[in-house]
Amino acid sequence: MKDRINQLLQEVNQLVAANQEELETLRIKYLSKKGEVSSLFNDFRHVANEEKREVGQLLNELKNAAQDKITELKEAFSGSADSDQKTDLTRSADPVKLGTRHPLSLVKREIIDIFSHIGFTIAEGPEIEDDWHVFGALNFAPEHPARDMQDTFFIEQNPDVLLRTHTSSVQSRIMADQEPPIRKLFPGRVFRNEAISARAHCFFHQVEGLYIDKDVSFADLKQALMYFAKEMFGAKTEIRLRPSYFPFTEPSAEMDISCNLCGGKGCSFCKHTGWVEILGCGMVDPNVLENCGIDSNVYSGYAFGMGVERITNLKYQVKDLRMFSENDVRFLEQFESAH
Ligand code: PHE
Repeated sequence: MKDRINQLLQEVNQLVAANQEELETLRIKYLSKKGEVSSLFNDFRHVANEEKREVGQLLNELKNAAQDKITELKEAFSGSADSDQKTDLTRSADPVKLGTRHPLSLVKREIIDIFSHIGFTIAEGPEIEDDWHVFGALNFAPEHPARDMQDTFFIEQNPDVLLRTHTSSVQSRIMADQEPPIRKLFPGRVFRNEAISARAHCFFHQVEGLYIDKDVSFADLKQALMYFAKEMFGAKTEIRLRPSYFPFTEPSAEMDISCNLCGGKGCSFCKHTGWVEILGCGMVDPNVLENCGIDSNVYSGYAFGMGVERITNLKYQVKDLRMFSENDVRFLEQFESAH
């Protein structure tokens, strides 16, 4: 009997199983009620009394060894079964993707970066505004259509609480708060009561610039904008200023750049004119300076405002404005390599 036990002990210690089924066969062979170990326990009663103690110990040793071995093998399998579940072979080998910056943020940062090289720093104002800062201080006539509910979002029908329609509202706040010289950029979101389509949205983003000092001239404005256009769209870019009208600037202009797709030769993008419009600008109207407590006999200044979506469209040829607010990763991922 002792020989048999020792032989089984050796056997048990060397057990291997290639899979769960083999393991189960081994368990049945050694540990089931009719298995090797049990049958030895059955035979135990035939063992001579004086040997019982020694054989009993050996038998227990065998039983434990068999149980330990089977558990050990089982654990090895359940471990690998587990890791089988964790390894999804259909997954791509790419490392986990980090998020990307939104194209509007990329372009906004670029605009800010370019103007920061010529001394502009950032200021911000509220999106929910009052009539004075958005319209009144900026020389809008009382009956100006922008004050109409069709164009502007008012909060709870109150004509004095509204969503700013342009970042020029920050001009009125900064001029009222600070002494010139003022050289500031105002990036921010603006709201207009427009039906949403590929070409218009009820909110979009602007970056406004304001420079107030002694002897600021239109030539200074033109120089700053030309520098910006070349930095943003390439050294070959040309600009042209067309006379325009804004209540808060006089004279006012709209700036076009030579079409960055066809280089000015004319294509469907620039409607065969060779030029595309990118911003509005002008010399700050003396009335506006006075409204904000700045002496218009001492100081003059320029202002400009551009749509971030517009510049982004030009740079990346995004055809539909709605893409910017839909958060479709297939769109956003395309800007991954941009800084
Ligand atoms: N606020 C104007 C707009 O929203 C842009 C602008 C800003 C024009 C500053 C002139 C000066 O269209």
